[in-house]
Amino acid sequence: MNNIQKYTINGHSVWRGRLNKIDGQKVDNGPHFTIRPLSGNDAENMGILSAEIYRHLGLGEECFIHKHETSYYHQAIKNPDTQYIGVFVGEKLIAMSYLKICRNHQQFSDEIPNSPLNFFKTSDTRIAALGADSVLPAYRGNNLNQIMIDYRLELAKNLHCNGAASIIDRSNHWNMPPYFNNGFRMYATAIDPADGGKIALMHHNLKTKTDLPPRGVNVHFASFNLIDKLLARGYIGCGYNKETSTLTFVQSNQRPFVKQNIILAVYKGKAYNF
Ligand SMILES: CC(C)(COP(=O)(O)OP(=O)(O)OC[C@H]1O[C@@H](n2cnc3c(N)ncnc32)[C@H](O)[C@@H]1OP(=O)(O)O)[C@@H](O)C(=O)NCCC(=O)NCCS
Repeated sequence: MNNIQKYTINGHSVWRGRLNKIDGQKVDNGPHFTIRPLSGNDAENMGILSAEIYRHLGLGEECFIHKHETSYYHQAIKNPDTQYIGVFVGEKLIAMSYLKICRNHQQFSDEIPNSPLNFFKTSDTRIAALGADSVLPAYRGNNLNQIMIDYRLELAKNLHCNGAASIIDRSNHWNMPPYFNNGFRMYATAIDPADGGKIALMHHNLKTKTDLPPRGVNVHFASFNLIDKLLARGYIGCGYNKETSTLTFVQSNQRPFVKQNIILAVYKGKAYNF
């Protein structure tokens, strides 16, 4: 659909594709977009994009999307463990996101607070935390976040990460298909300490591919209590149906995290930690 072509330019991965929609309207032979890593030279554009995204945030989209000034991006981009990527149409930055390498549970918790899961089975485990997924409203509907996640997963593999993780506001059903379509699964829910919002933890195992049962249970994404019960019973989320606004849960004992004494969910007054 987006006709993605991949290149390596000056040692960096550069992807090129075509837009199919602008301002929600289909366009034939739409303009090209380019995805590439961002550098300090892009900080001003990142500040502008951030302000624009923040201005349009709706209910359920607030999750960990913060408004940052150009000066913040000048600093953030210097962190060798953080890689920002951007989508450009001509010179205009229309979307961005980042990948941050976490080397231990403490670093992971800084990125994904209140996570009840510990993925650090060995001292050489690296998890790529994906965040700040943002597409300007005029360019939504082009699968740009799905493509940015795909791009960051490739980056994570090149950086020898064992897995990738992210959090989604549980009301943000727009950001669920991009993750599920890239092989992420929903393992747990938590409360966002920043605003008390309900969040879901998504993880993709980059080292081991596990097959899941072909059939599952479909639940409306906003049935939070029912979803918590399913997670408490050992189900994991593996798909989202846009037509019915439902999440699919299947039962699986394939768990990529360390069993620890942390409550994952509470069902009928009983705490479960798997
Ligand atoms: C999440 C986000 C990056 C997804 O954008 P995207 O990659 O363009 O989304 P898609 O291409 O998968 O969009 C699929 C459909 O959902 C619609 N859609 C996407 N995001 C939407 C939103 N925030 N509000 C309303 N509709 C939205 C698209 O218009 C498209 O509709 P269509 O099928 O009729 O064309 C974007 O909504 C965004 O930037 N949101 C604000 C920041 C945010 O919430 N980030 C995630 C933090 S957890």
